[in-house]
Amino acid sequence: MRALLRLLAFMRPYWWGTLVSIVLIFVLTTFRLGPAWFTKLIIDEAVPQRDVPLALWFIAGLLGIALLTNGLNALELYLEQWVGQRVIFDLRGTLYDHLQSQSMSFYDAHQTGQLMSRVTNDVNQVQFFLTQGLARLVNTFVTIGINVAIMAYLDPLLTAVAMLATPLVIYFQKRLARLMNLYRVMFQRQADMAVVIQENVAGIKLVKAFNREPYEAGRFDDVNWDIREKRMATTLSRSATDAGQEFVTYLSAIFIIGLGGWRVMEGAITIGSLAAFYSYVLAMWAPVRWLSFINSFAQQAMAAGERIFEILDTPLDVAEKPNAVALPRLQGRIELDHVSFAYGSNPPLLRDVSFVAEPGQTVALVGRSGSGKTTTVNLIPRFYDPDEGRIMVDGHDVRDVTLRSLRDQIALVIQETFLFGASVKDNIRYGRLDATDEAIVTAAKQAYAHEFITQLHDGYDSWTGEGGVLLSRGQRQRIALARAILKDPCILILDEATSDVDTETEVLIQRALEKIIQGRTTFVIAHRLSTIRHAGQILVLNHGRIVERGTHAELLAAGGHYRQLYDAQFAGQEVAQAQIDRLAAIAG
Ligand SMILES: Nc1ncnc2c1ncn2[C@@H]1O[C@H](COP(=O)(O)OP(=O)(O)O)[C@@H](O)[C@H]1O
Ligand SMILES: [Mg+2]
Repeated sequence: MRALLRLLAFMRPYWWGTLVSIVLIFVLTTFRLGPAWFTKLIIDEAVPQRDVPLALWFIAGLLGIALLTNGLNALELYLEQWVGQRVIFDLRGTLYDHLQSQSMSFYDAHQTGQLMSRVTNDVNQVQFFLTQGLARLVNTFVTIGINVAIMAYLDPLLTAVAMLATPLVIYFQKRLARLMNLYRVMFQRQADMAVVIQENVAGIKLVKAFNREPYEAGRFDDVNWDIREKRMATTLSRSATDAGQEFVTYLSAIFIIGLGGWRVMEGAITIGSLAAFYSYVLAMWAPVRWLSFINSFAQQAMAAGERIFEILDTPLDVAEKPNAVALPRLQGRIELDHVSFAYGSNPPLLRDVSFVAEPGQTVALVGRSGSGKTTTVNLIPRFYDPDEGRIMVDGHDVRDVTLRSLRDQIALVIQETFLFGASVKDNIRYGRLDATDEAIVTAAKQAYAHEFITQLHDGYDSWTGEGGVLLSRGQRQRIALARAILKDPCILILDEATSDVDTETEVLIQRALEKIIQGRTTFVIAHRLSTIRHAGQILVLNHGRIVERGTHAELLAAGGHYRQLYDAQFAGQEVAQAQIDRLAAIAG
């Protein structure tokens, strides 16, 4: 019920539209009383007096009312849709904004399909109630109220009898409230379905390689069937209610005919009055039939509303302080001061990590897979906040500055390069939306991407495919580099940005990097010795602690962890490195 009230609060900006709608409903309902009254007049006055002109006048009146009613009805329907669609637009927008502002931990915990389903499916479920249900609900009560009033005027006794069906109708409607639980499950299953589809499409290569199409189809069938069952159950429930209600109201109408006939014979009312009364009884019960629909729309809106507000009520993990200041252009001094961090309620991952990166320095992070390298650099743009300690940029605690001004100065290139399904040009421009085409080409040249881009079918306008699937990994990485260069950040984070590319591409990327890192504080995480060797400072991480720090030469000489890593991972690369250097020399 609370969810419903909160949904209604979204209508507040459009209260005038709702008000006009309600006024129109009143007017319409009153007008709809007209035909039956004119019928009464024709039967009771024109027919006994054989007054043809009078009858024609009444018929003209009927026609006039019909025209007016239909016109106003169209207006009212338009208005109710207009308000409803605006509310849905606002709701969807609010939800989307909220999703975007959510922290990384939120995305770690939620599946893409689940989130998509809330913005699309759940909002749509609310739509029925807001655009149709609400106006109908008002309409129903207004219609019943006005019809009962005029019936009471015609014959209070018959009215009392007709109203006997009311408690039964209420009983039936109360039963329908149980639907909400079914809807809850159904919407959850619809979200599950979105998850299955999303995972299947995203992992299609794997699905095919492992011949898991039938298995995936089975997963889909399960939820698909479940949704069908829930839908059937809700529909059956509603139909049963409808049938019961229909019968009860039908009984009430039969009663009126019988009892009304007797009242006419008694001389208590005229035949015309009975005819009119009968019409009003039917008119009164007609909208009651909508009640089950409105009721089920309301249950749907409540179940979906709960799901929507669940997201809207999720507090931000990484939130900006109300008095956060905008960072000026940074020098680039980064300090991690006794930082400890754990993902959610997991055991601590980073423990007491402290280091200083001087402006323009290159800091390499090395360590086994899972030692916390990525986690460490993720703290700098505040993808997560440390549990203990602080992170300072040019002496500002990152928690005291606006997220925008912080992230504006950081560019990130990661191993799993993501490109948008757009042109190469637009993907590079993502680094700075107002960049000119010339600036884009310059950035691409610096990233050694220009040459291959111009050889693509449509050059800079070539489509990269979703996530960049139409390009090779090395190409994608160079586009990502160009994107970062265009941003012209003061802090550059390269998280395995050169992994898994062929030697030739690596030469190019390496040369690009050498230029790009000039004048920027750079964090590199790399499996390749080449990138690490010249770093101003190497931090060796082991189980989330910095176990060694120094330059390449110092660390090699120390004969500790770094030496071990070097022997295990990098020694073989020396040979390759020599080859790379030779190639580079040839390429000039
Ligand atoms: N989003 C996350 N939620 C929970 N645990 C995570 C998350 N990301 C990484 N981890 C865990 O944290 C550890 C360190 O990960 P990471 O920093 O990516 O290591 P590295 O980059 O050094 O290989 C790993 O054991 C990994 O399982
Ligand atoms: Mg990593």
